[in-house]
Amino acid sequence: MPRRKEHIIELAEQFAREFLTSDPSGHDWWHVHRVRSLALEIAEREHADAYICELAALLHDVADVKLNASKQEGLDRVRIWLEDVEEDPAVISHVMDIIANMSYNEGRNAPLTTIEGQVVQDADRLDAIGAVGIARTFAYAGSRGHLMHEPGDQRTNTKTAIAHFYEKLLKLQGLMNTDYARTLAAARHQFMETFLQQFHAEWPEVKEVYRTDDS
Ligand code: ADP
Ligand code: NI
Repeated sequence: MPRRKEHIIELAEQFAREFLTSDPSGHDWWHVHRVRSLALEIAEREHADAYICELAALLHDVADVKLNASKQEGLDRVRIWLEDVEEDPAVISHVMDIIANMSYNEGRNAPLTTIEGQVVQDADRLDAIGAVGIARTFAYAGSRGHLMHEPGDQRTNTKTAIAHFYEKLLKLQGLMNTDYARTLAAARHQFMETFLQQFHAEWPEVKEVYRTDDS
């Protein structure tokens, strides 16, 4: 990678580190560090542009709506920063397009059209599953004051950590864009299935308790 691009990557890392808080809702710097590393690994296998992937991975959560007053404010923050350091408008619009459109949005967003977008989206989704994904889910639920589990109909108890697996995490394997991410997702998905099986096995059966009044 040319020195100019290396320098921009260093600046993007600094910007993301400074902006992302250490709050436990899953948007800490280490999430970004893992997504960047996964994105680079997938980019190499899928012959995607490593610079675009790394830059988008580093910046993807700076625009997150949870950390800004609105989605637009977050996107403006990233665009203004990019325009300051990167002179190529094609790079700026490509990275902005990825960041604006990669989120899960209950599966409603249109698929990303460039291989770089697909790579970064896969990397972000991989970090939501497997052992790290499990840990993030419980950390998130704790940060919001949600229970980890509420036995019964998952459709009516959508706020618990366990419900989040059925609502979203178990679907992510099937939504991977690239072949290489699919192979990484398979192992992580299997681990979640095993975890859930064990979790439910350890959870006592819920019965009505009938107390006999023997006074
Ligand atoms: P990202 O920024 O990686 O796209 P999100 O902002 O959707 O992810 O969520 C951050 C982390 O918190 C992820 O690991 C996600 O699975 C988890 N999470 C999101 N919503 C919930 C929820 N309702 N209950 C438990 N975990 C959640
Ligand atoms: Ni993310």
